[in-house]
Amino acid sequence: MKLLVTGGAGFIGSAFVRLTVNSTAHRVTVLDKLTYAGNLENLASVDGDERYRFVRGDIADPVLVNQLIGEEAPDAIVHFAAESHVDRSILSPEPVFHTNLAGSFTLLEAARRAKVARYVHVSTDEVYGSLDEPLEASEEFPLKASSPYSASKAGSDLLALSYFTTYKLPVLVTRASNNYGPYQFPEKLIPLMISNALEDKPLPIYGDGMQVRDWLYVDDHCRAILALLERGREGEVYNIGGSRSLPNLTVVKEILRITGKPESLLTRVTDRPGHDRRYALSSAKIERETGWKPEVPFEQGLVDTVNWYRTHADWVARVKSGAYRDYYDQNYSGRAISS
Ligand code: NAD
Ligand code: TYD
Repeated sequence: MKLLVTGGAGFIGSAFVRLTVNSTAHRVTVLDKLTYAGNLENLASVDGDERYRFVRGDIADPVLVNQLIGEEAPDAIVHFAAESHVDRSILSPEPVFHTNLAGSFTLLEAARRAKVARYVHVSTDEVYGSLDEPLEASEEFPLKASSPYSASKAGSDLLALSYFTTYKLPVLVTRASNNYGPYQFPEKLIPLMISNALEDKPLPIYGDGMQVRDWLYVDDHCRAILALLERGREGEVYNIGGSRSLPNLTVVKEILRITGKPESLLTRVTDRPGHDRRYALSSAKIERETGWKPEVPFEQGLVDTVNWYRTHADWVARVKSGAYRDYYDQNYSGRAISS
């Protein structure tokens, strides 16, 4: 297949491109705007492969998107591009609307015109909102978004599904839980805590740290998307979870243990506004229909991820310079709570 992968220079998109080029015969064209989160270093290992092409551009630019789809005639589009971080969406919702809603719309329109044969819209378990124990969201669970980020993802999920219902565009929607692994921008919980711990900096815990997330190793997520590209049913939603629910504090203490750093680095900060307490989802449908299962146990994935950050200090230093420091100050300064 010829794939058009949006957001392929980001964390999950680049893992998907590396996996696809290395383990399948598909050709991949990446369309990516290279925002703060996009990084060509993430794709260096496939650069030069004749089955890979990179195009810099905005998914919300209809001229570019129509031209590229016309030129490439992809068999499938895998749509990862997004403003993907809740905290940034709270500080600055405009780019979230632009990319996640207007951009997703532009891409769907272009795919509809070009009659693209397969379209995977990559979404998140956050669209189900916060769930009380012991609830787990199945794909039929109602949507209840709390942040501008999750609202934009819920909106674009529904838009994508409407293109199946109305225009018969062969859309599949995936909803994955929290990903972790190499090359993740250090604004999300796990890479931020690992890189701060390695630099002996404070680890900012929002609120009481007892919020629960389900953790999925990034390559497991990518394998699930490849399985759905081949065997998923059009017009359907598929949850993709790691089957590993943990409170944030447990995850961060484990990072301190692996890095050999003291718990005195833990710093409580004021909570995120609208913070969802617990995400939980069932992956029974994708497991039943495709045979996919998460393969990487959390303990192993976390050790491998810490090792990756340890051995890629240059990558970390480059992405943490400049604008990252401004973001960090904007999000964290003045929030520490003395216990
Ligand atoms: P990321 O922030 O690491 O990467 C996003 C990529 O999209 C970057 O390369 C960026 O340059 C690109 N991009 C942003 N705006 C663009 C635009 N207008 N046009 C073209 N490219 C643009 O994100 P990620 O963590 O890799 O997430 C990828 C997708 O997976 C997103 O749709 C996200 O909602 C979804 N998702 C993420 C997680 C997670 O835990 N990170 C979990 C479930 C679902
Ligand atoms: P995050 O990685 O931003 O993912 P999401 O909010 O999309 O699930 O955050 C994961 C959890 O970690 C969430 O409960 C917020 C919490 N968190 C902190 O306690 N401190 C931090 O500095 C960050 C970035 C997140």
